[in-house]
Order: sequence, then structure tokens, then C-alpha cells
Amino acid sequence: MCGIIGYIGKKNAVNILMTGLKMMEYRGYDSSGLSIIENSKLVTKKKKGKIAFLEEVINANNFQSNIGIAHTRWATHGEPSDKNSHPHLDNSGKISIVHNGIIENYQYLKDSLIEEGYVINTPTDTEVLAVLIGAKYDRVHNLEYAVRLALAEVEGTFGLLALSSDEPEMFVAARRGSPLVLGIGNDEYIVASDNAAIIQATQRVIYLHDNEMAIVDRDGFITKTISNESTKIKVEEIEYNIEEIQKGGYDYFMLKEIYEQAETVRNACRGRLLVHDGNIKLGGLHKVEDRLRKTKRIIITACGTSWHAALVGEYLIESLAKIPVEVEYASEFRYRDAIINPDDVVFVISQSGETADTLAAVKEAKQKGALVLGIVNAVGSTIARETEAGIYIHAGPEIGVASTKAFTSQLAVLTQLAIYLGRMSHLNQIEGKKIATALEKIPEQIQMILDNAQNIERIAEQLITVKNCLYLGRGYNYPVALEGALKLKEISYIHAEGYPAAEMKHGPIALIDEDMPVIVIATKDEIYDKVISNIEEVKARKGKVIAIATEGDENIKKIVDEVIYIPETLTPLTPILAVIPLQILSYYAAVKLGLDVDRPRNLAKSVTVE
Ligand code: M6R
Repeated sequence: MCGIIGYIGKKNAVNILMTGLKMMEYRGYDSSGLSIIENSKLVTKKKKGKIAFLEEVINANNFQSNIGIAHTRWATHGEPSDKNSHPHLDNSGKISIVHNGIIENYQYLKDSLIEEGYVINTPTDTEVLAVLIGAKYDRVHNLEYAVRLALAEVEGTFGLLALSSDEPEMFVAARRGSPLVLGIGNDEYIVASDNAAIIQATQRVIYLHDNEMAIVDRDGFITKTISNESTKIKVEEIEYNIEEIQKGGYDYFMLKEIYEQAETVRNACRGRLLVHDGNIKLGGLHKVEDRLRKTKRIIITACGTSWHAALVGEYLIESLAKIPVEVEYASEFRYRDAIINPDDVVFVISQSGETADTLAAVKEAKQKGALVLGIVNAVGSTIARETEAGIYIHAGPEIGVASTKAFTSQLAVLTQLAIYLGRMSHLNQIEGKKIATALEKIPEQIQMILDNAQNIERIAEQLITVKNCLYLGRGYNYPVALEGALKLKEISYIHAEGYPAAEMKHGPIALIDEDMPVIVIATKDEIYDKVISNIEEVKARKGKVIAIATEGDENIKKIVDEVIYIPETLTPLTPILAVIPLQILSYYAAVKLGLDVDRPRNLAKSVTVE
């Protein structure tokens, strides 16, 4: 997730662009840059790190321009660096682009361009697009036309802005899959990824549609499809203030991230699901495929929420790929002198890619000769770089300290990994296809849960007076119980424990009385009846039960106090859906307790000390 902005008008473009970048910094902050046209020449400045670093470069100059484009980056292809930052230029150095999205066929395009004699200097997908637009421009000498020709060859997603010093009074915007908003000011126009960057100049906006482009000059703009058909415009008003829009209109980043999950899970699967073949394409593992095929044992190590995802991963891989899996807390793995065999594969899971314990585990496993692979969100992070290969989860920047969207994306990736490993040995095409088909449906099912959050908000009211809470689940949903309990503890400071439901009778049952809410994941699966028995045990001791159940299960209503329904899916996929009500429940409990959800006490987003 990156942020892009373009401006043309009478004001100082640099000021407008820099303000816009700051308003979009939450979208990515590993590097930033801008291009302006000054005295008919293209001037580009870019810098690795926070926008403040770019600002220092900008302030050292006295740029005078009233047209330009800018970008704040959250790296996908190529690590964060000055060179990999946007804007990227074509080979003539006259065309500059900023891009939000992923060009999926960039390798093919890159090879073709190199064969034609063009030069590409970075590993980024965006530079390939810049050079492709330049190549088209060499033929047609018209920026709009060149962009259209180039985009016709592109597979993937883009919010794109292109600027050329040969046509210094206009810029071109286009989108597919990534948002773009066009702001209409007084003799000025701004196009950006987000209203947050536009509101500084105007509240009148047009939301561009997929496959739509805008050609913007000093006198106005025209919109059309990328295939050159005219489109209708609808001017709308931004109704939010700047503060709200920074969080996309949500009260907290955590809530925003909870609501992003239909999209982030879709992104975790994008380009990977080969539904027809019942298989998964994991480009990041290509070079280690042979070693994976031979592995006799997998170890997954992580911390916190990522460790909970690892537990689900264990169930998935053992069931679908029949490879023994062990899950270890990274902090324990690091110090307990674990036995590692040379043909073991160690997967490390980390949202931030910077967790010190997890990084130490990477080093330990590497030192003992294992193949160490990453499942990481932050591209270019230390763990991503330190591991031999890996899979990015593509959840976008997660700002809320309580991890939400990273967890569901980790689960989506682990499901795909299990299918991928399974298809190398035991899993047949029909089974693979069944799971891949169900996974493809998960984003819309997540949306269905999110659309019914009011019921969960109401139930959250019942948690705010309690001191303790118990979360129970069995099988795939045991790690979900752990994650639900962690979410509640982290942000509401209510003591909560997660247990395998059947373990309750071996101890925790002593805690149950009428003051103890017990949240039970009781979805319709092979062990549903057993979970119902565990619920009966709680009810017999006057415990109050809130059940997460499968849509259509009317029977459960008769036994429990409250029910939150989730759509039906295959058992291995239930954790992705079951955790969402638990996230929402914790969020509203904390909000109702008057706590600052995004800044829970004593916690940091990235734990970079051991
Ligand atoms: O960035 P990582 O996934 O390596 O972080 C691991 C934990 O620190 C993290 O999941 C932590 O438990 C979160 N606060 C959970 O919400």
C-alpha cells in the first residue's frame, strides 16, 4: 500500500505535494519522493525513510513549480532505498511516474524491454512500467496515448500518475485495483490515493473507477477508460475532517485494519490461487522448491499473534501435506538448543519482520544448517532479508498495535502453503481445488461478518464489567481462542485466557461462575458435538457463554447466552472467519472502557528488543 499524489494549479506544487504525502504517511513510510517541472525541466528528488527525510532535501532547495507528482512508499518489489523509491523515470529521463499497486507480469515486460535495448536499473516493478511508457512514447510522442498503450500490456494493479517534461502543462492518472480520487479546486486539481491528501485544497472530488483514467491540465480534466471510451463523472463532497481521513474515517487504525480484511486477504491470495489446477503459485519459494519437496520436518517459529497463526499452520500442513510440523515460540527456540536436522525447513512468521526474538531464531536456525524461510508482511525488513526465501503476506502497513489484518493474511498464506506442499505429495487435484475454491470465497464471507458488526458491538457491552474471560476452541479453532484472548488482554486490559475446549475440565473449570464469560468457538465441524458438550459443562456451572457459530445453526441458540454467526466454510478455513468477531469484540470492549485502542499501555508495534 503506497500513497500517490499529483498537482497542477497556481500554488507552489512542492508545498501541496509534501502536505499530501504527510497526510498519507500511514499508507507507507519506507521512502518517498517527488517530480516537478521547473523551467521546462523534470526535477526528481527521492529519499529512503520517513517523509521528514525527503522534506530536509526539499527544504534545502527553493523549488518553484506548480505541477508535480509524489509518492510515499511501502515497498513491494525491491527493498526500501533511495534508488528503489518513486518516482521512477523512463530511459529518456523525461517521463516520471508514481505507482501504487503491483505489476504482476513485470518480469515478462522487463525481459521484453531489455531485449529491445532498454535499460532497467532497479528490481522494482514500477521502473519497468516507466520504461514501458517511455518505449511507447518513443513511437507515439503523446503521453496520454503512451500510457494507454502501456497499460494495455500490464497485468496487475495500479494507481498511476505520469508526468513528462515534453508536455509540461498536464499529467495523466489511471487506476485499476488501487484507489484514485480527483479533487477539483479553484483553478487547481489534485489526484491522490486518498481524500486525506486532497482535503487541503478542496472537498469536491471524483472517485475514479477501475480502468478509468484522467488527463489533467490547467484548464480542467477529461476522464475516459483506458481503452479510450468516454466516461461520465460524478462530483461528490468529502464529508470528513483531516484527522478522520487519516484513519480512513475510522476512529482507530485498529478498526480500520479490521475492516480492511476482506481486501487484505484477497491481496494475500492475488495471483497465487490456481483454482482450476487445485494448486498454488508461490513465486517466492520457487528457488527452494526441491528442498521443500524433500523435507521430512517443518518447524514454524514466531511471537505473539504470528505464533498463533503458526499453530493454525501446523494443523493445516500436517493435514494437507502430511509433513510433521513443530511450532516454537521464537524466544524459546533461540535458547533451548533445539535439535535441527540439515533437511529440516524452518518457517518464521513475522508481521513487522523486525521482531528481535524472531530474528534471533532465524540466526540460530541458519547457524544449525536449516533452510530458513520467511512469512513476512513488511517488505525489505530484516527478517525478509535474512531468510533464504519466503512469502510476503501483502497486508499493507499495519499501524494498530493489536495485530488484526496481518493475522488473517498470515492464515491465508499458510493455507496456500499447505496446499502447495500437499500438491507436491499427498493432496490430489480435486482436494486442492476444493480448498482453493473455498479460500477464494473467504474475502466476501469476511465482508458479511463485518457488515453485521452491530450485534458484536452490543455483546461487547457485557464484557466491560468483568475481570476475567475464558476463550475456548478445539482443533483449528484452538489457536483462534488464544488469539481472541490476546486481543482482549492487549487493548482492554481484561484478563483473558485461551484454552483447548476439552482442557477446561483439567483445571480452568474451577474458575467458572456466573461472573465468568466464556467465549466458545463452536462452528459446525467434525468435533462440533464435543464442543457442545464442553458448553454444557460451562452452563452447568452457571457460566455465561458467547458462541461463535456457523450461520444456520439454530440449535445453539437454545443452549448459549449469545451467538455470533459466521458463514459456513471448510473446517481448515474457519480460523480466518472465526477470529474476526473476536477482534471486533475486543475492539468495542476497549472503546467502551474509554481506552486508547491504538496506543495500548506498555506495548510497541514492533518488539525489537529481546
Ligand atoms: O511483527 P511480528 O509479527 O513479529 O510481531 C509479533 C508480536 O510482537 C505481535 O504479534 C504482538 O503479539 C501483537 N501486539 C499482537 O497483537
